Amino acid sequence: MKQVSAATAEVAMPARDRSRAFGAILIEQGRLNPADAEEIQRFAGANGMRFGDAAIRLKLLTQEDIDFALAQQYNYPILARGGANGVSDDVVAGYMPQSDSVEPLRVLRSQLAHRWFNDVDHKALAITSPGRGEGRSWLAANLATVFAQIGERTLLIDADMRHPSQHMLFNLSNSIGLSALLTGRAGKEAACRIHPQLRLFVLPAGILPPNPQELLGRPVFDLVLERFTDQFDVIIIDTPAAAETADAQIVARRAGGALMLARRSVTRQAQLVSATQSLQQTGVKLVGTVYNEF
Ligand SMILES: Nc1ncnc2c1ncn2[C@@H]1O[C@H](COP(=O)(O)OP(=O)(O)OP(=O)(O)O)[C@@H](O)[C@H]1O
Ligand SMILES: [Mg+2]
Repeated sequence: MKQVSAATAEVAMPARDRSRAFGAILIEQGRLNPADAEEIQRFAGANGMRFGDAAIRLKLLTQEDIDFALAQQYNYPILARGGANGVSDDVVAGYMPQSDSVEPLRVLRSQLAHRWFNDVDHKALAITSPGRGEGRSWLAANLATVFAQIGERTLLIDADMRHPSQHMLFNLSNSIGLSALLTGRAGKEAACRIHPQLRLFVLPAGILPPNPQELLGRPVFDLVLERFTDQFDVIIIDTPAAAETADAQIVARRAGGALMLARRSVTRQAQLVSATQSLQQTGVKLVGTVYNEF
């Protein structure tokens, strides 16, 4: 009996301490009063919930409060911008995480955490949109960054073998990437860690094959994803324009879920409807739609 309770205490202690630290950050900032913090703590304990989820359920904190506390708690590094080793201007969540354009990404992160990544079988998510230049790569890079900032082990895969860009966004070589993994010429180590204090890894597209569709269609892609799921909590996959080839559909089917992006004044409605239907017809779960106002 004694041993069992001791073991339970050992497991429970860190979680409780973490919640206290979380509450303390918000109390210090005047976003929460101590009595409410106690109530949240009690409710979380009684229902086996995380502090943040309990606070939202009780309507004592907003998602914004939770994200703020998480950033403080995880104390993530700010990535360098430009230069020989920095990320590109596009990876704004990395070098300017408090900017206004990053806030909607954090809201999206928490929606996805509740709607998709809350299931152990849902680790991968394809970022899709019908046409060129609609912001898929921008969204994939920044979404992966904000997930890594809350401590999720995050992998960003560039599966756009038509117009790859993640290697440029993160200033990486594109000589070894997904194409090498799919042809058995490289292993998981091809994914590059972006910063020692951030669990964000990027797998570039790699050398472009003559026939991307054939390569992405190989069953080995499933094995590659399976191997990565042991190592990562969140896998974000950038894809080519869905209206142009079947690549995006193939990749989304492997991921199991997709986010559909539409860009203001760029995306055509008919193409959006058609791309969405094609995904759904192949059994892909459409986790959500994002409207890019940029
Ligand atoms: N929300 C945004 N905020 C800032 N810049 C954005 C945003 N969305 C798109 N952009 C800019 O628009 C351009 C096109 O975006 P991006 O490369 O992400 O599109 P894409 O859909 O991946 O295009 P492609 O078909 O070339 O793969 C980029 O230069 C990017 O900087
Ligand atoms: Mg792109």
